[in-house]
Amino acid sequence: MTGKELREKYINFFVSKEHKQISGKSLIPENDPTVLFTTAGMHPLVPYLLGEEHPAGKRLVDFQRCIRTGDIDSVGDATHLTFFEMLGNWSLGDYFKKEALSWSYEFLTSKEWLGINKEKLSVTVFEGEESTGVPPDTEAKEIWKSLGIPEERIYMLPREDNWWGPAGETGPCGPDSEMFIDTGKDACNPACRPGCPCGKYIEIWNDVFMQYNKQKDGSYEKMTRKCVDTGMGLERTVTILIGKKSVYDTEFFIPIIKKIEQASGYTYGTNQDKDISVRIIADHIKTSVFILGDENEIKPSNIGQGYILRRIIRRAIRHGRKLGTSGAFLSIPASAVIEMYKDVYPQLLEKNDFILKELEIEEERFISTLAKGEAEFEKMVPNILKGKDKIIPGRLAFRLYDTYGFPIEITQELAAEHSLAVDRNGFDEAFKKHQELSKMGADKVFKGGLADSSEITTKYHTATHLLHTALRMVLGEHVKQKGSNITSERLRFDFSHELPMTPEEIKKVEDIVNKQIETDHPVTMEVMTLEVAKEQGAIAFFESKYEEKVKVYSVGNFSKEVCGGPHVDRTGMIGKFKITKEQSSSAGVRRIRAEIA
Ligand code: SER
Repeated sequence: MTGKELREKYINFFVSKEHKQISGKSLIPENDPTVLFTTAGMHPLVPYLLGEEHPAGKRLVDFQRCIRTGDIDSVGDATHLTFFEMLGNWSLGDYFKKEALSWSYEFLTSKEWLGINKEKLSVTVFEGEESTGVPPDTEAKEIWKSLGIPEERIYMLPREDNWWGPAGETGPCGPDSEMFIDTGKDACNPACRPGCPCGKYIEIWNDVFMQYNKQKDGSYEKMTRKCVDTGMGLERTVTILIGKKSVYDTEFFIPIIKKIEQASGYTYGTNQDKDISVRIIADHIKTSVFILGDENEIKPSNIGQGYILRRIIRRAIRHGRKLGTSGAFLSIPASAVIEMYKDVYPQLLEKNDFILKELEIEEERFISTLAKGEAEFEKMVPNILKGKDKIIPGRLAFRLYDTYGFPIEITQELAAEHSLAVDRNGFDEAFKKHQELSKMGADKVFKGGLADSSEITTKYHTATHLLHTALRMVLGEHVKQKGSNITSERLRFDFSHELPMTPEEIKKVEDIVNKQIETDHPVTMEVMTLEVAKEQGAIAFFESKYEEKVKVYSVGNFSKEVCGGPHVDRTGMIGKFKITKEQSSSAGVRRIRAEIA
């Protein structure tokens, strides 16, 4: 079984159950300011899970690239990854538990599909919770029993195990039922069960029954329209199907590791510590390539996604040094990633030069100060070891950041290698004092839930359409959307255009947008084929490979654009529009930030 085969089987299976295949989306969630990256297959579908109509219908299937950095410190062991692909199928107010679980079972065990031995399957379901009043999921349990899973392999577990979501701080969530494969390893103790981290049971699929919408205040609002969200980890499932213990011993990493060996001269498998470094580099370089190759242009920076990107590139470089690399080397494994994924993700090939160039710039920038920073760090160590707290003061950690570009996480990692801690609060204080944006920017993104901010982000979304059309009127039809990102504080819009905009042009664009807002146009939506949408003159830049039908949003007779929504009902709701910044984003691409008040 290969990744390619599993993707195909999964899609074909659900298409045979009347699902429509849709395209995976950007790694940068467009309408969710509560997180930096798309963390699950359901993430881009949040508006539809909450009630928005999806143009492809009520049964969907796709594969989605995801990034999770929460476990970044565990990367390097056999299983943790920051980048992975998730296969998923959805019911948007259509089928519920019975169909979802039966199909999961059929796909896993039928000879025609994955043909997994039934005896090796265990499942878990939600045991219920008094505090939220959610009852035990006896319905799911009975369904599993009727499918032939004996009671002793059905585990009723609490929230930590059997509740999923929301993807951000707020949004759709619910009890889930997870499917595990028994690897045949001995139980670590008599209480060992699915969910135990010892490695006996590996989770491969999760069916979530989305019945609740978590609110900003922490409460759960019942949704009348129930949905199903399922997710199967691609890399993990292939690894187990082919009987490997580590995902790093599979097609998903072998070509990258070969290139790391070539670049460093180290042979994988000969030294435990160095193997960890190889795996960290392999994981981080893959994630970096996918971030740099995303349709939303992200570069290493000190804020938001750019900061995560910088952090993982720099961490990879540092581990490269442990293997004996001296100069820039990341473009070698990066090319392997592009080669491995170019058929499934052609955008990586299109952005090949950009990806390699940005990696090289960041590498050069960091390498020149890395050795000095490490020397500086080593100088600090003896004194700190003498002290009784064994803590690196915040101001010293800040100096490493400020002078040598060490992300605080790298300082923490270096410190841990010497069994030292870092005064993180002290660092943050020093940081704020210097009014650096870095982490503050990232933290800000995490604050303020989706439910709370959805109204304002919807306004920004409609404002983005107005801006797009206004730019095309003022600058010309060559203007095309290159990226869009919305938080509850501002919109950011990247578009193709060579020259900086003049103050007059900016003013003109603002005036046009504000005029449309004052006119209080109705915003309407129609579902049609992409062909018809284009015939009608709708702007459509992010074309997807699979959707036959698309949603087209019209703002009066001013703008018409293919888009998933959601939007405000009338433009008058938006408020006053102001461009706060216009700058270069990359060659031939300008970036606008704008606010509404
Ligand atoms: N959202 C769920 C998960 O990530 C199922 O797709 O596991």
